[in-house]
Amino acid sequence: MNKKILELRTKKDQASLGGGTKRIASQHQKKKLTARERINLLLDPESFEEIGQLVVHRSTDFGMDKEKYYGDGVITGYGTINGKSCYVYAQDFTVFGGSLSETHAEKICKIMDLALKNGAPIIGLNDSGGARIQEGVVSLGGYADIFYRNVRASGVIPQLSLIMGPCAGGAVYSPAITDFIFMVEHTSYMFVTGPNVVKTVTHEDVSSEDLGGAHTHAQKSGVTHFTAAHEVECIEQVKRLLSYIPQNCESPVVSLPYTDTAQNELRPVLDTLIPENPNQPYDIKDIIEQLTDTDSFYEVHRQFAENIVVGFARLAGRSIGIVANQPAVLAGVLDIHASTKAARFVRFCDCFNIPLLVLEDVPGFLPGTDQEWNAIITNGAKLLYAFSEATVPRITVITRKAYGGAYDVMNSKHIGADMNYAWPSAEIAVMGAKGAAEIIFKTEISKAEDPKAKWQEKELEYQTLFANPYRAAERGFIDDVIEPSETRLKLIKAFAMLEQKVDRLPSKKHGNIPL
Ligand code: HXC
Repeated sequence: MNKKILELRTKKDQASLGGGTKRIASQHQKKKLTARERINLLLDPESFEEIGQLVVHRSTDFGMDKEKYYGDGVITGYGTINGKSCYVYAQDFTVFGGSLSETHAEKICKIMDLALKNGAPIIGLNDSGGARIQEGVVSLGGYADIFYRNVRASGVIPQLSLIMGPCAGGAVYSPAITDFIFMVEHTSYMFVTGPNVVKTVTHEDVSSEDLGGAHTHAQKSGVTHFTAAHEVECIEQVKRLLSYIPQNCESPVVSLPYTDTAQNELRPVLDTLIPENPNQPYDIKDIIEQLTDTDSFYEVHRQFAENIVVGFARLAGRSIGIVANQPAVLAGVLDIHASTKAARFVRFCDCFNIPLLVLEDVPGFLPGTDQEWNAIITNGAKLLYAFSEATVPRITVITRKAYGGAYDVMNSKHIGADMNYAWPSAEIAVMGAKGAAEIIFKTEISKAEDPKAKWQEKELEYQTLFANPYRAAERGFIDDVIEPSETRLKLIKAFAMLEQKVDRLPSKKHGNIPL
């Protein structure tokens, strides 16, 4: 027996070295950790159990039968993060550049199936040269097997993708289907076609970093939700995100013990944050900070479409999702990117029973040919659709402007919000007073002795009538007009009241969100 155990140990020692010490050193030289080091940092100490460590590839072409490594370029298994179960796979760049072979794909599929059956998050650490070139179509099939499982698991278990190196070609589509993508600055990139092909086809000269690095996808495309300066920070971000989200779509909302009742006092500072001048910007994040538990706000998509802010927070210990117009950027206007960013976030929260808080200060949708020609109609509709189909507890607070179609879209009573509050500073109307006066009093203004004075008079008239929350409150479209300082307390009570909410969509195969 001893001999057999020694043989096993030798194999496992070999497996733990992946593609060998030279390639591990080369990985470190590139300021990258190995797959095993990443898993050790991500999972709770001693919790990782590996599956399929002794798998090898089956290909024989191009002399591949003479070069085999245990694990075949991906480490798969399960363990815990902050004590909660999760499933993980990490591509090992030291073995054929982490490229995806038939067996490599089978290992990932096996772990995905386990995650889905057992209702726990699946976390993929990507660092790969793409399809194993020596295996041809078998490798492409392996990718499709993964994509198919990503879609099946969508909305059932949280799926997270960490991009820790190359992720190119069709390989990008697995992360794209998952719920959240994390990228590391300067050592990771994602693109469908690389700089060489781009040069041949469009004659553009572009580096990998500019084409598909972390900054590009954080700011320009919005493909990544989080970026980190280095891998350790990236892994910490993943752990933080997981602390807000449940294990699966049937788990209750994540709730941490909440004993700091000193936080339940009035917040007088909130009475001072909205500027006197309705056209003056302010930072909605200052309001979020006052409304939520201390240091609990965790922003998602921080650098993309900054005119809307989305993220997780805790309210009296319980996780909530926040969607807030940002008056400090483009006056908080809704445009294509803001709409799609918020719609995706709302849908994630709804999938996983995370209640939604909406803070509204929106002058409307952004006008212009660029927006119209790029389908603000279809994209704005995504947000409308996402809110309307969400069955989680939903509360809106209108802090200032709620104009035009944006009033309807931003979680209004009419599209199923449970509780709608407004601050006394709220302005709820079809449009701003200036524009409204110009249209409805056009003739009167043009015939006046002093048209400018007339216009101002009519603007004031419209403003007095509509630039307040009371018309909406009289109709019951607003459940209560509240003082800013008491808002946190109102929200804690209202979300507690909605804790047992049951709401179901009509029976159907699935809806048809405007894509
Ligand atoms: C097999 C691969 C490989 C691949 C890299 N390697 N990519 N082996 N299949 N796709 C191997 C290399 O031969 C090398 O082996 C080792 O991995 C490290 O690669 P290097 O090139 O030395 O590393 P580096 O200089 O860091 O460059 C990394 C790289 C480059 C940019 C990823 O390797 C590269 O361009 N690879 C090919 C990428 C590609 O075209 N893939 C197919 C895309 S199409 P040794 O033995 O020297 O260590 C695709 C379709 C998916 O993926 C479709 C899904 C639907």
